[in-house]
Amino acid sequence: METAGSTPRPQPFAGDFRGYKQSRNAGADEELARIGPETSGGEYLRRFWHPVYLTDDLGELPEAIMILGEELVLFRYGDGDKIGLVHKYCPHRRASLEYGKCESNGIRCCYHGWLFAPDGEILETPAENSKAAEMVRERTRLGAYPVIEYRGLIFAYMGPPELQPDFPIYDAFEHEGMTSAPYKAPYKCNWIQVMDAILDPVHTTFLHGQNSHPQFSEGMKALGVLKFYERGENHFLGSATRRIGDNAWVRVNELVLPNFTQAGAAYAADGSEQRYFGRSCFTRWVVPVDDENSIVYAWANFGDRWDPHEYNTREGHEKIEQGEIMDRPLEERKRYPADSEAVEGMGPISTHKGENLMPTDRGISLYRRRMRKQIRDLTDGTEPPQPSRDHGHSVRTYGQDTILTLPPKGGDDQEYLRQITEAVMDLQFEAEALPDSERDPVIFERLRSLEQNGLG
Ligand code: FES
Ligand SMILES: [Fe+2]
Repeated sequence: METAGSTPRPQPFAGDFRGYKQSRNAGADEELARIGPETSGGEYLRRFWHPVYLTDDLGELPEAIMILGEELVLFRYGDGDKIGLVHKYCPHRRASLEYGKCESNGIRCCYHGWLFAPDGEILETPAENSKAAEMVRERTRLGAYPVIEYRGLIFAYMGPPELQPDFPIYDAFEHEGMTSAPYKAPYKCNWIQVMDAILDPVHTTFLHGQNSHPQFSEGMKALGVLKFYERGENHFLGSATRRIGDNAWVRVNELVLPNFTQAGAAYAADGSEQRYFGRSCFTRWVVPVDDENSIVYAWANFGDRWDPHEYNTREGHEKIEQGEIMDRPLEERKRYPADSEAVEGMGPISTHKGENLMPTDRGISLYRRRMRKQIRDLTDGTEPPQPSRDHGHSVRTYGQDTILTLPPKGGDDQEYLRQITEAVMDLQFEAEALPDSERDPVIFERLRSLEQNGLG
């Protein structure tokens, strides 16, 4: 007797099957993806300040962390008010300083009690009074890095001390009417995969909108008219301008090399209500842990020009970061994938050489090309540019939502939206040299005038 399923049932499809031909793995983009010491990409990243921990997560005991492929220990000293960052293994016989004792002037190794200052100087070798100990104290140091604590994030500089740049102050750091909350979001993949999404405004429409229950505001389902901008040597903008009824909604994402990113609001803007230069829902850095893991350290931003205060919860921060909470059952992740699924799903290091970059991926091509150039320049001896404070003010950023009532005029509305985007961005570029206190009021005034008078 025949049972169901006992007969072979070839799928009735005759086509050009290429599985076999294409079964070999394409390679990764090693130059950008590798971040460890003694890689050219790692050397490049070591020229910048990076957030490495949340202040609130560092208690009275030392914490072992990995950043840029290096095993490190973060600890408190003084009255617990100061923070140090050192290599993990003691230079005596390699005990881990994760088990060290935090003291008023540094960290003491648990094994034989050597005491290290925050800059790695050996202050005490208590069991040793020998000549050898004196020599080791003079010649040897524990590896250590300078640290800055700022608004709930701990930043470190891991490059050559003589090249330590100023800590960059962005316009997004402090703002009247803005509340910020630090958060972190780990990703189980190479940092470039996480970075790519910021200059990819199309994924917002599909991943977060049409292919899911809308993860951000409903209006993001619409496909926008895209434009990409390069500002100076290290600043990239990707705008998507959507037509929502009579409104034109200009949403701008941005990236400052190597790893600073901002966008518009996640929930506060959906294109239906007027908004002038609403600012980014997050101010964030994508920090490589090792070649196959990264952590986003960020502030989520709340207020009238940011996201609603009701999202200022741990869950809210995760949703702002990537559309959903971070840890979800597999079935839910399959039904409603968000950024984690999209970027981790590529594998620990994506095989970039198997990509087919499209015109809508222009932002990604632009920033990767520039980063590659800066990596190669550094290898040849030219230091990369730091975030620019050309006008003596904070580093200017543009991540935003601007929503203007400018109804379609008849004719090619896509072209009209393109012109609106240009006008909105140009007036901001023109205002960037103004002092902080004048810049935003001038931008508001010019947007108002643009809305009232049209493009002229
Ligand atoms: S291993 Fe640290 S003091 Fe001996
Ligand atoms: Fe996303």
